[in-house]
Amino acid sequence: MNEQENTTEKKVSSLQSTTVLAKNKKEIYSVTGNELLGSIPLMTKKEVEAAMNEASLQQKTWAKVEVYKRAQVLHAWADELLKNKEELAVTISKEVGKGISSAQKEVDRTADLIRYTAEEGVRLHGDMMKGDAFPGGTTDKIAMIGREPLGVVLAISPFNYPVNLAASKVAPALITGNAVVFKPATQGSLSGLLMIKALLNTNLPKGVVQAVTGKGSEIGDFLVTHPKVNMISFTGGTATGQAIAEKAKMIPLVLELGGKDPAIVLEDADLDLTAKNIVGGAFSYSGQRCTAIKRVLVQEEVADALTLKIKEQIEALSIGTPEEDADITALIDEQSADFVQSLIDDALSKGASLVTGNKREENLIYPTLLDHVTADMDLAWEEPFGPVLPIIRVKNETEAVELANASEYGLQASIFTKNVEKAMKLGAELEVGSVQLNAKTERGPDHFPFIGVKNSGLGVQGVRRSIESMTRDKVFVLNF
Ligand code: G3P
Repeated sequence: MNEQENTTEKKVSSLQSTTVLAKNKKEIYSVTGNELLGSIPLMTKKEVEAAMNEASLQQKTWAKVEVYKRAQVLHAWADELLKNKEELAVTISKEVGKGISSAQKEVDRTADLIRYTAEEGVRLHGDMMKGDAFPGGTTDKIAMIGREPLGVVLAISPFNYPVNLAASKVAPALITGNAVVFKPATQGSLSGLLMIKALLNTNLPKGVVQAVTGKGSEIGDFLVTHPKVNMISFTGGTATGQAIAEKAKMIPLVLELGGKDPAIVLEDADLDLTAKNIVGGAFSYSGQRCTAIKRVLVQEEVADALTLKIKEQIEALSIGTPEEDADITALIDEQSADFVQSLIDDALSKGASLVTGNKREENLIYPTLLDHVTADMDLAWEEPFGPVLPIIRVKNETEAVELANASEYGLQASIFTKNVEKAMKLGAELEVGSVQLNAKTERGPDHFPFIGVKNSGLGVQGVRRSIESMTRDKVFVLNF
């Protein structure tokens, strides 16, 4: 090994808590500009096995560390992230093609999330129950119910929020005494590893967190079926989530998957507020959010007026590079851009009308609005994960709810109306995890429960709920 290779190897090892070093590496380039940002180890099964064993071993000691000390580690981690905010934000921005100010916000948001998790975690108290007269029961019993960590949490994060969605799994796992094996999405892994590097600069005992990187085809199944994994927290595509669920068998899972969040617009809605929220919800980070608004179900009476307002706001969006802090930037890769384009082409070929957009420069898709989208078009049902929004005109609220619920997904929905009682009634009919009244769909603030039903997920996230999902009850019964 020459001197230069040796230095690179050391750099890579400083990003891993495992002592095992992968010989093969993958270079990671920026989404735009084709700039070489760094490389990640392509770990083998043997190397993952070593990481898994070490995490499992260290978890036993970590679980015995006082919770206030674990909280101190998390606070120190948040401090480290903020100290390295610029480096992290630039890495996120380049690696996943996100506007620099959004990347900076992601770091701030993550520090807040980690601190909130630390504070919530120290207040995780148990419970007590007195025995009662069930048949054969007795009052001469007391159940003392505590919360225990599950063991090793496998945290698999997506490309789009490579720091925030990773920390939202790692922080609750750590505060509750779990060890973590962290597998970031390949594009996004440099950002994820930088985040882990900040964590390793705290007093976290060595080995409690293991970062593993590599090809899904080599280590993916090995990870999710590994006998030392006690819980899997995954955010990503529905097909991958379903494949994990099949393989994980009895391993507890939290899955945050795809969405097709509707904005339901009733005839009495404030159209300025509605258009502003729809455009913000649909086009921020170029639509690459699970919680993006992905269809508008609008009552015919106000459809023309709303479409015009949305069009005006879309045309005011800036289009360019992450460095320019543009609203709309190139999508994560060519395959994603091709898919978005295919949805636009399919809708247009079946009679949808183009209101604005449908222009492409390599992986940059201009923000596109299509009107008169109907149920026979793929765009009515598929999740584009890109900057295209279909307007589907409906006769009434009943049709809006029927179409909303006909989707395979059930993440969130927005209802825009001045009639709050009506909104509550409609919201109760919607098969989704959260209903937003007069605002865009979004996961944040990060301590709110975040739930996907149907093909949008399994289990609940949000600081308190994530903590609960990574612990279980342990009961001691005192008989007297
Ligand atoms: O798709 C990622 C999503 O969780 C981002 O969060 O709050 O922007 O919806 P938010």
